[in-house]
Amino acid sequence: MNKPSEPGGDVVALYPASALQQRLTALVQNWPIDAALGPDAPPAYRATDVAALASDQDAQRTLISDEFDTPASVLRPPPGTSLAVALAGCRFADAPAAWLAVLWMRWLWQRNQFITIDDVAVRALVSEAETLFEGNATQFAMAAHRRRLVLLLADILGGNQRIVTASRYSPELILRALGVDGATLSALPGPLLDIGCGDASLVRYARNLGVEARGIDRDPTPPGERADWLGFDYGAARWSLITSHHGFSLFFRQADLAADHSAQDYARAYMRILSSLRVGGTFAYYPALPFIEKLLPSTYAVSYAPLPHDLAAAAQMTDDGLPNEACHVVRR
Ligand SMILES: C[S@@+](CC[C@H](N)C(=O)[O-])C[C@H]1O[C@@H](n2cnc3c(N)ncnc32)[C@H](O)[C@@H]1O
Repeated sequence: MNKPSEPGGDVVALYPASALQQRLTALVQNWPIDAALGPDAPPAYRATDVAALASDQDAQRTLISDEFDTPASVLRPPPGTSLAVALAGCRFADAPAAWLAVLWMRWLWQRNQFITIDDVAVRALVSEAETLFEGNATQFAMAAHRRRLVLLLADILGGNQRIVTASRYSPELILRALGVDGATLSALPGPLLDIGCGDASLVRYARNLGVEARGIDRDPTPPGERADWLGFDYGAARWSLITSHHGFSLFFRQADLAADHSAQDYARAYMRILSSLRVGGTFAYYPALPFIEKLLPSTYAVSYAPLPHDLAAAAQMTDDGLPNEACHVVRR
């Protein structure tokens, strides 16, 4: 029996993986323990910052103990979800080392939201956190820990030392940037999904208009739901409008630029998103992805909405040479 074909398989195949190197994995596996700390080393090496990360009262009381092995079930993410996203809701009481690793990952993402923290890197962080918890807090152990942590974080950062914080935007601005008007939103015949919803302001705004709306994010504010946009089950022929502002497509562009194996994962997820649209439904996102939109079959109609002038003047999307506009892909 033939395997059912992947939605958009042809497009994914046409979209070339820039490089299949697993740079981050190699870096994390081979980090040089004796390398000198560079000037860009993350500040987590300072004892005060490590302590601040563990400032939770429970954590402080029980910080040093030998009972901190992370249950194997915690380190097994559901299919399609990266370990980093799966662990994000973990509490200190569930698995202290995983909890601490999540704080370190947040620290990294606050520094640069595009950093990829793959499962191998997450396991290395968890294992380092276990070492911290299980060690005795002699000065020597703490110094050695801090040195390893700095190297680990610096290696995950790699050349990615730019600070690129994740901004939050108002629902009104998001709709203007996406070129979706309020009337279209209120008259939607079916549900809305916001991908990378952040603080879920657009979801709340749409619900206030009476629209059935959901949002997903790796680090959401309710009513947004925690999910990895690369692994989320978008369903089939389900959504009337899917939005993603400064979210999925921005990260797709970065993955493409970074010559990173994850660009193919983005291409696959992009096609799954499109096939989850109802007929007549729209995927509206900013910024556009001309390198993949031009490959779409005629079952999809592609159009572009330039950013309004005031938003274009403020936008910081000029470094990759691609047009600064939103895209609408409509399923015919
Ligand atoms: C620049 S913010 C934009 C938030 C929101 N769309 C807005 O316009 O205010 C990008 C969002 O993408 C989310 N994100 C990054 N990688 C993700 C992933 N793999 N899965 C789900 N969400 C992700 C981040 O947590 C962040 O909230």
